[in-house]
Amino acid sequence: MHKDIEKVLISEEEIVEKCKELGAQITKDYEGKNPYVVGLLKGSVPFMAEIVKYIDLDIEVDYMSVSSYSGTESNGDVRIVKDLDCSIVGYDVIIIEDIVDTGKTLNKVKDMMYAKGADSVKICSLLNKQERRLIDINADYVGFEVPNEFVVGFGLDFNQKYRNLPYVGVLKEECYL
Ligand code: IMP
Repeated sequence: MHKDIEKVLISEEEIVEKCKELGAQITKDYEGKNPYVVGLLKGSVPFMAEIVKYIDLDIEVDYMSVSSYSGTESNGDVRIVKDLDCSIVGYDVIIIEDIVDTGKTLNKVKDMMYAKGADSVKICSLLNKQERRLIDINADYVGFEVPNEFVVGFGLDFNQKYRNLPYVGVLKEECYL
């Protein structure tokens, strides 16, 4: 385990199992459709790479980058840093996210997708931190509930570090206070 990690919350094996479950559910829910799967950079990358293996549909994959976070707090001012590569007019969009925390980011991104002409927009998040929610928005597909602690790994960072850890763990307080 990395020296800055207090404890491991979710192992790599558990995440892979969950991706199989969620992928199968999405495959069922979108039968006959070709959803446009959008990963939010950078946190969703490992989760996106894992879950798409288990979505048995002809999907399109794209990434979008928005900025709203610095340090451990989201400021709600969501700006597009890297836009989608293609038009999503008439598409069923699935947003892949690492964590829903206050909900500010996803709320704005969901609106952006509808403004771009998406037919439907659903959210699939690896983690959900319900306790911190400020906006009434929920992911349609959730991997794991996490407590109100700052978590890193499997894509999640603190100041761009720890994204490469193969598990989700709680960061030691002394590393971010
Ligand atoms: P929200 O707008 O507050 O829901 O923030 C969502 C974004 O904040 C996520 O995509 C993460 O990048 C980041 N975030 C929220 N909580 C954590 C955490 O515990 N660890 C790392 N990043 C987090």
